Amino acid sequence: AFQERVFSGVQPTGNLHLGNYLGAISRFVPLQDQYDCIYCVVDMHAITVPQDPAELKRQIREVTAAFLAAGIDATRHIVFNQSQVSEHAELAWVFNCVARIGWMNRMTQFKEKAGKDRENASLGLYAYPSLMAADILAYRATHVPVGEDQKQHLELTRDIAQKFNNDYAASIAERGFGDAFFPLTEPLIQGPAMRIMSLRDGTKKMSKSDPSDYSRINLTDDADTIAQKIRKAKTDPEPLPSEEKGLEGRPEADNLVGIFAALQGIPRTEVLRQYGGGQFSAFKAALIDLAVDRLGPLGADMKRLVNDPAYIDSVLIDGADRARAIAKPTIDAVKDILGF
Ligand code: ADP
Ligand code: NA
Repeated sequence: AFQERVFSGVQPTGNLHLGNYLGAISRFVPLQDQYDCIYCVVDMHAITVPQDPAELKRQIREVTAAFLAAGIDATRHIVFNQSQVSEHAELAWVFNCVARIGWMNRMTQFKEKAGKDRENASLGLYAYPSLMAADILAYRATHVPVGEDQKQHLELTRDIAQKFNNDYAASIAERGFGDAFFPLTEPLIQGPAMRIMSLRDGTKKMSKSDPSDYSRINLTDDADTIAQKIRKAKTDPEPLPSEEKGLEGRPEADNLVGIFAALQGIPRTEVLRQYGGGQFSAFKAALIDLAVDRLGPLGADMKRLVNDPAYIDSVLIDGADRARAIAKPTIDAVKDILGF
């Protein structure tokens, strides 16, 4: 049996927003009580599309600060930066030789991110899932908290692990690793799927890449900015319903109720019980108070941390040392299994 271990990563590719927090980072925190956790700033994934070097460095520190400010304990668990542990790249190459071109061709995220000009996308963007498999399997992680958008990549990770285990079964057994060197990593399902939508268009996901700053709440937004963005959030003229079915066909209202529920840690039905039937302006005022209350201290902590880059960098160096101590023996064993 494999030791239970959680791995997850966030790309340093633009200001972190409420969707990243509610859908990913805040969900990493409670896992620390149950698992050994490894949380990674995946900068090698970031360069699959063009990045400005100075901005990338700033974003690496900002994501690290968000992990720490959210309550991830970098002393009991591991917080580090992917490019500092070269084992990820080494294992990714091996996995490039395990994965089949046909598998990669089925990845929907590549099709979305490459867009129409697929011939001009980087080879790295195409091979992204192979590097993601290496991120996870370098630690032989058993569980990954994944958003909807990463489910297909995690399935590919399992396919790669399975094929490696099969292709090298004899060599793996000969070296005393039994019948599987890599675990078949499971997705960790934590409550209902969390998909925070744009504040300007309830049918689009809140995203770093949306050109409108009013579409998202950034984690470092100050109280006035948070208030203004929620006040300006698109809604319809109807009052808030008292039951969930009243939100059908009203994506903007539905999204704000979902954000309230997630920030307060209560079911959506409870939000509607409290605010249903009332005017939207009253609900928005309560949402502003709640959002400022929850995100204000987080943003302040993040700003304090990014203003001390030497401290952030020392956390990342320590994390990389401890990550390498796990990944290096894995890669050494893989090389031995391969006959290197
Ligand atoms: P983005 O989609 O804004 O570029 P990333 O792809 O870097 O952000 O996502 C980082 C993490 O945040 C992933 O686990 C992703 O599932 C989660 N995430 C991103 N946007 C949202 C959203 N709008 N709602 C919920 N989770 C999200
Ligand atoms: Na995403």
